[in-house]
Amino acid sequence: MNDLTTVVDAARTAFEQAQTPADLENSKALFLGKSGRITEMMKGLASLPVEEKKTRGASINLAKQGIESALNARRQALADQELQAQLQAEALDVTLPGRQRGTGGLHPVSITLERIESIFGSMGFEVAQGPEIESDWFNFTALNTPEDHPARSMHDTFYVEGGSEQAPNLLRTHTSPMQIRHAVQHVKKHRAAVEGTSPEGTSSQGTLFSGAMPEIRVIAPGRTYRVDSDATHSPMFHQCEGLWVGENVSFKDLKYVFTDFCRTFFENPDLVLRFRPSFFPFTEPSAEVDIQFPSGLLAGRWLEVAGSGQVHPNVIRNMGLDPERYIGFAFGMGPDRLTMLRYGVNDLRLFFDGDIRFLAQFR
Ligand code: PHE
Repeated sequence: MNDLTTVVDAARTAFEQAQTPADLENSKALFLGKSGRITEMMKGLASLPVEEKKTRGASINLAKQGIESALNARRQALADQELQAQLQAEALDVTLPGRQRGTGGLHPVSITLERIESIFGSMGFEVAQGPEIESDWFNFTALNTPEDHPARSMHDTFYVEGGSEQAPNLLRTHTSPMQIRHAVQHVKKHRAAVEGTSPEGTSSQGTLFSGAMPEIRVIAPGRTYRVDSDATHSPMFHQCEGLWVGENVSFKDLKYVFTDFCRTFFENPDLVLRFRPSFFPFTEPSAEVDIQFPSGLLAGRWLEVAGSGQVHPNVIRNMGLDPERYIGFAFGMGPDRLTMLRYGVNDLRLFFDGDIRFLAQFR
């Protein structure tokens, strides 16, 4: 009997020492396998007398059962251990702070453009959009700036390859081409209503319209381009054009509308404006508009914010209108500059560098 107890003890020890399921199966083979110790003992029964065979056989079976139950216990223990390790490795720390999505926000210049649109919207102005790749005609010629006009050199123009006389061939240097584009559409539409032709009809082309039509009141914000780059100039910048054409629109209206706009935009009813005589080929008379803050960092300084003037009769003609009946004013302002003044930003390039630390301040 002693030999059986020894075998069972040896098996228990071997199983305890097995650290992996594979180890355990190897140990099992030593005792229960084809030539394992228990199996060998079973084989030995054959040579025993019948009576002894019975008792010896029963004892071996008992030992075998003891080994099997030790094996199963160890199997279970190893499986538990493995599960435990796996749970540990895959543990989720639900108390860790999550990764946040950054909060987006409007670009400061976009905020300004929205303000401009809403203030002029409240004064009955429509908003128009136009192409950034323009033709000579709309950018210069139609605006009373013929090819050899010295005023063309005031704008350092980016020219685009492959342009023909009619094809777009430059990046617009200002939003003023939208004066012509928008007015021509407006005139076409209302002229068709008066004259009973379709807007696409050509019957009255070439003649100036002197019939009745609703006033043109529009702003045209957008990107503009000039070969220029320093702290206050960027090769791409923004402008917003304004145009008001009717039968009875005067410089007084320009002053009123623009003063009202600036005071609303800067939320400062005491803002002072100055219309300083200037020159633009497409307006006559022309003025540059300066503003002065009564208080704050910029108090007392005159700051230029726009060009403006009464629309030149040649431009009125290029809109398809009879300058004997129609008159108007136009202005062009710089939303980038308005944004700098409103928030006290001193370098225009900050707007276009894409530095999130700068931009996040306007959220
Ligand atoms: N287009 C002019 C500029 O870019 C500004 C302007 C617009 C002046 C409309 C008068 C009227 O400088």
